[in-house]
Amino acid sequence: MLPLGLQAHNSSTGLPGMLEKEIDAVLQYGGNLFEAPVYWYQVEKREGEYDFSQALQLIELCRDKNIHLILLWFGINKNGHPTYCPEWVKADPRRFPLAKGPDGGEVATLSPLAEETRKADLRAFTRLMEFLRDTDGDMHTVLAVQVENEIGYANTDMDYSEAAQRLYRRPVPPFLRDISLEDSGITPSGDSWVSCFGRHAHEAFAAWCWADFVQLLAGAGKNVYEIPLLLNVMLGENGFEEPGLCYNSGGPVSRVLDIYKKTAPGIDVICPDIYVQDRERYLKILSKYSRPDNPLFVPESPVMGTANALNMMEAAADPRFCGYACFGAASALDEQGNLLPEARDVALSMKTIASLAPLLRKRAGQVYAIVQQEFMDKQYLHLPGWHVECTFPSASRSRFGLGSFINTRDPANRDLLETRGRGLLIQTGESEFYLAGCGVCVDFRMRPEIGYERSYVQLTSRMNGTLNFLSVEEGHFEGDRWVTDRFRNGDEANFACFVHRGEAVRIRLNAAR
Ligand code: DGJ
Repeated sequence: MLPLGLQAHNSSTGLPGMLEKEIDAVLQYGGNLFEAPVYWYQVEKREGEYDFSQALQLIELCRDKNIHLILLWFGINKNGHPTYCPEWVKADPRRFPLAKGPDGGEVATLSPLAEETRKADLRAFTRLMEFLRDTDGDMHTVLAVQVENEIGYANTDMDYSEAAQRLYRRPVPPFLRDISLEDSGITPSGDSWVSCFGRHAHEAFAAWCWADFVQLLAGAGKNVYEIPLLLNVMLGENGFEEPGLCYNSGGPVSRVLDIYKKTAPGIDVICPDIYVQDRERYLKILSKYSRPDNPLFVPESPVMGTANALNMMEAAADPRFCGYACFGAASALDEQGNLLPEARDVALSMKTIASLAPLLRKRAGQVYAIVQQEFMDKQYLHLPGWHVECTFPSASRSRFGLGSFINTRDPANRDLLETRGRGLLIQTGESEFYLAGCGVCVDFRMRPEIGYERSYVQLTSRMNGTLNFLSVEEGHFEGDRWVTDRFRNGDEANFACFVHRGEAVRIRLNAAR
């Protein structure tokens, strides 16, 4: 399946009314996935006594609504902090020490090197995996588990405790020595952290410490129950990109991904939490996390706003795309449980992706993102055999034809004329396409082959040439099967192929010449 959905707010687990509302928001986004935390402090209020009733409640609520779940293990580290640890951990700093900053003072992050801390979190996480194996091993409502949340050290680039410094003075583990970090300022040589990683030595060391801790949990968890394990990332593409200042140091930011891949092979996907708005930075992040050894899953992004609504098309068109979620499900709905107007844009984009999910999941064709950037009235896609011209009615004076077949007064149709256009075009055959989205109309022209000597008019998909469509079908997928709901023809097909409301059309062009 292609997981698409929303994440709960941090403190929603355990609140039945709230959880139901959040799951309802997932459905209103056209999603099939809910992400929600499991809190260590709730699971193990007293040391050694475990209670997974809240996780069970989550699983049952999701089963009831026929959606899937990704559980987020809030253990020793939630965004750098130990706030989700049980009180018996928080209240015993001798047994569970904090890491130290360069001035020797403590920072608000538990050290992942401390033996008792490692053992305690490992025990609780392993119990969680046992619980999932026993309660969900046959139904698989839970698709994956995220280990901790945006891990790393807050306010320091590494742990400067004596124990950590002793470790730092030891040789870099041999399996890391062939990694060369971008912009390290050195040519790697030798076996010290500085000689291997130059100006990024502290961050590389911190990353290894955290990755080693994560692998402890992941390895044990996988031994108990073999489901995908994820790590989410507080991105390094922030401000002036200095660890411990602009983001938690030692987390799996793109700079140190290779260290994580080698140290924590039990983690299946390292996932960027992308809250950035500008397209350039967004694309940069996609390019860093979409790798042959890392599928692209975005576990957190804004639940509303035009930027994410547009950017998520770019993620969905990535060849390694395998899922997307937005953070703060309950924030998308008003008090009556209706979708807020400001959430509509992102919901429409998620519906767009969901409309074509079976094709995206199987990578059943070449996928192209259509995104109306600022000032754009058209977007041109250069396909091997076709010119594709996407027109955005919201920016175009000529809306000829559209009003004749769409009731533009119906609010449900307004997105065709008023929202920023976006969509996905998937070429599944030489002349077969699927298009989903909103606020966009698409025209095709076949590219002339070498030696073609007839009129260009004959290469168009529209009615004024001999090349025309075979069929234009509105429809939807049932499982992997396309089901046609309506055949478009005449006015509905001859002017331009439009899409709205996130719905899909199948276009079969006539390639005969
Ligand atoms: C990122 C974190 O991973 C989430 O748990 C949540 O705190 C959001 N930030 C809030 O913006």
